[in-house]
Amino acid sequence: MAHLPPVDTFDYIVFGGTGDLTMRKLLPALYHRYRDGQIPDDSRIIGTARSPLSRADYQQRAHAALNEHVQPDALDDATVQRFLNMVHYVSLNGAEAESDWPALKDLLSAAPPTRIRVYYLATSPALYGQICENLDTQGLITEQSRVVLEKPIGTDLASAEAINDSVGRHFHENQIFRIDHYLGKETVQNLIALRFANPVFERLWSCDAIEYVQITAAETVGVEGRGAYYDRSGALRDMIQNHLLQVLCLVAMDPPVSLEADSVRNEKLKVLHALRPIPADDVAIYTSRGQYMRGTIGDRTVSSYLEDLGEGVTSETETFVALKAEILTWRWGNVPFYLRSGKRMAEKSSEIVIQFKSAPWSIFANRPEPNRLIIRIQPDEGVMLSVSTKDPTPTDSLALRQADINIEFEKAFNIRYPDAYERLLLDVVRGDPILFIRRDEVAAAWRWIDPILQGWKDNKAPLEPYAAGTWGPEGARNLLSQSGHLWHEDMKK
Ligand code: BG6
Repeated sequence: MAHLPPVDTFDYIVFGGTGDLTMRKLLPALYHRYRDGQIPDDSRIIGTARSPLSRADYQQRAHAALNEHVQPDALDDATVQRFLNMVHYVSLNGAEAESDWPALKDLLSAAPPTRIRVYYLATSPALYGQICENLDTQGLITEQSRVVLEKPIGTDLASAEAINDSVGRHFHENQIFRIDHYLGKETVQNLIALRFANPVFERLWSCDAIEYVQITAAETVGVEGRGAYYDRSGALRDMIQNHLLQVLCLVAMDPPVSLEADSVRNEKLKVLHALRPIPADDVAIYTSRGQYMRGTIGDRTVSSYLEDLGEGVTSETETFVALKAEILTWRWGNVPFYLRSGKRMAEKSSEIVIQFKSAPWSIFANRPEPNRLIIRIQPDEGVMLSVSTKDPTPTDSLALRQADINIEFEKAFNIRYPDAYERLLLDVVRGDPILFIRRDEVAAAWRWIDPILQGWKDNKAPLEPYAAGTWGPEGARNLLSQSGHLWHEDMKK
């Protein structure tokens, strides 16, 4: 493997240190970066949470998390032990001013004051402001400190602004890292390379050649144990407002003048500003929402959303959303961008499909299919271009047949694909915000989402049932068919 430059020594202080995200994602990601030699041994990972645990207890939990979430071939005892030596714990309620702040202060002041500190807030967003205020009052925010905010930042524009204000009172915008793990996914970052390093794509990247674009994030999981959060959120807030709109920005933005973070973020912001608003009264035209019923995925019969929430519960929360977005610019005039995401769908698959325009005229007996570029975000990260070629079967005419030019990244580069958090966690230490969301992007995304939420709240579009294990409700198909377009799985038929 190429030599990976180490980052500077740091202290990572995780609020919500015993939570699912820390155990499932953050510790395994830091472990991988440590194992690859990118984290100096004198760095520290300090979990904080309310539970009264000793350091040894917490190290034990961290160890169990690595055993569960890191592939066995990446775990060796000596490395794990050295990694665990970096792990500390402070029992602390970050939202309370009277909690055991002195313990955290003592631990942090054992390191030079110039050391990089990352405060990672893996807690409820309702606590962000309070935690930041306490950090400030305790004098724990140094010039070298940064804060990481997990989504969801708010449930609408007003609440997002309130959270951003409350954090902004204590940290400068350049110290605030709003994480969207989709931006850390290799194939999502690769969009920048693919588009701006390959003229063959960029020259065709507009309404001149593209008919429509689809961005899908389909999951087979249900709400699992997250019903309480999810039922207040729904698919639009959980996946579209952040992940899918960010991907849309990278697909649609103009070339940034450089790879400097604000160059890229300025271009993304322009896309968000150019989205045609969907007024509340028009949600039935531009959106489809659904909720999963019982169904079968593979050979498993799975319960409905309401059953997953618990007995006797009713809910109008959408577990599926599809929508038609339009970007009002010269580049994208009349090119629909269809976005969709859902739980309990037929497959786990996140991908971007760029459907090119048909040839204007055909000299062949059978009409050539339009070219299609598929960017697979996960699983099986890769890029595939479908082209028409000559059918090799000996017939008396020159007939066409579809074939694919297919790059599977894992095979092509023969490396393990890193989890999104691995890149993002160290970018915070490096102080590089290119893959993080600026405050104005959050606001612009909510400004576009809010009227849709309002229209749904006013029941201007039906909440349609769909069977688990399918591609969502009929409304999602109709959204495309009215323009003669198809979802990817229907093109394959
Ligand atoms: C999270 C959502 O942000 O992304 C989850 O809150 C969702 O509901 C998850 O399951 C999907 O992430 P990934 O990386 O599995 O596509």
